[in-house]
Amino acid sequence: MTGKWIDLTGQVAAITGAASGIGRAAAFALAEVGATVLLLDRDVAGAQIVADQVIAAGGTAAAHQLDVTGDAEWLIVEQWIAQSHERLDILVNSAGVMLADKAGDSDTEIYRRTFAINVEGSLLGMRTALNFMRLAGKGAIINVSSAAALKGSPVMASYGASKAAIAHFTRSAALTEIRAGHDIRVISVHPGLIETAMAQDFYDVFAKLGGPDQVVAATTSGRAGRPAEVADLIVFLVSDRASFISGTGITIDRAQSA
Ligand code: NAI
Repeated sequence: MTGKWIDLTGQVAAITGAASGIGRAAAFALAEVGATVLLLDRDVAGAQIVADQVIAAGGTAAAHQLDVTGDAEWLIVEQWIAQSHERLDILVNSAGVMLADKAGDSDTEIYRRTFAINVEGSLLGMRTALNFMRLAGKGAIINVSSAAALKGSPVMASYGASKAAIAHFTRSAALTEIRAGHDIRVISVHPGLIETAMAQDFYDVFAKLGGPDQVVAATTSGRAGRPAEVADLIVFLVSDRASFISGTGITIDRAQSA
């Protein structure tokens, strides 16, 4: 027995939010098992740096500018993928923001921006990916939701609601594709606190809004997770090893929400 347990050679994966954190780690992990990775971010310079690092490590990668909230930008990316690769097998929607607010007195701008990036951005990504995957009859989409989708929060109401929304869209999209006879799987992942640039936003929120240090300690389940730990889950979920998993959310939080 010489075959690799997971081998994505020949597959093309697009990753949003790939310049940083979980998206960046997913890019490395997917490239390590053979996928060609297309790194999308509004920070295109950052995405290009990651692409160069993936290539230096022996992988195949390219970067492209994308603000996930823009219809027109997604169209340009779709054309870029069609011209350069003619296929898209995997999409990881990782781009996201966490802006603090309290339910009942949410700032309208915070609410709109959160939903535009976290929800609409993921939906536009799914729509783009499905244009390729429906033709092939096959594919896998991962929406990076959050453990924050699973319970209410006095300090990040819009964020949690946006992550719950994308988990629900995940279930609906998965059902739609399976019932249409496509082998297209759609799954949300729900990380607890992960050591990325965004983790600092969480620490700031708890400090600024008066949350006690113990809250931060409690949400870390003893420690924050590493981006690579989430990336390993993503690699498994998009691979044929997870061929019977779709339309559900997988929590990865070291018992934080247990
Ligand atoms: P990060 O801040 O390290 O990376 C986010 C990336 O998204 C950045 O490269 C940023 O440029 C990009 N981005 C933001 N808005 C964008 C837009 N409009 N268009 C294109 N790109 C955009 O954050 P992290 O932690 O890697 O977050 C990735 C995902 O994981 C997010 O959806 C976040 O909500 C989720 N998450 C993070 C957790 C954590 O503790 N870090 C916990 C649970 C979920």
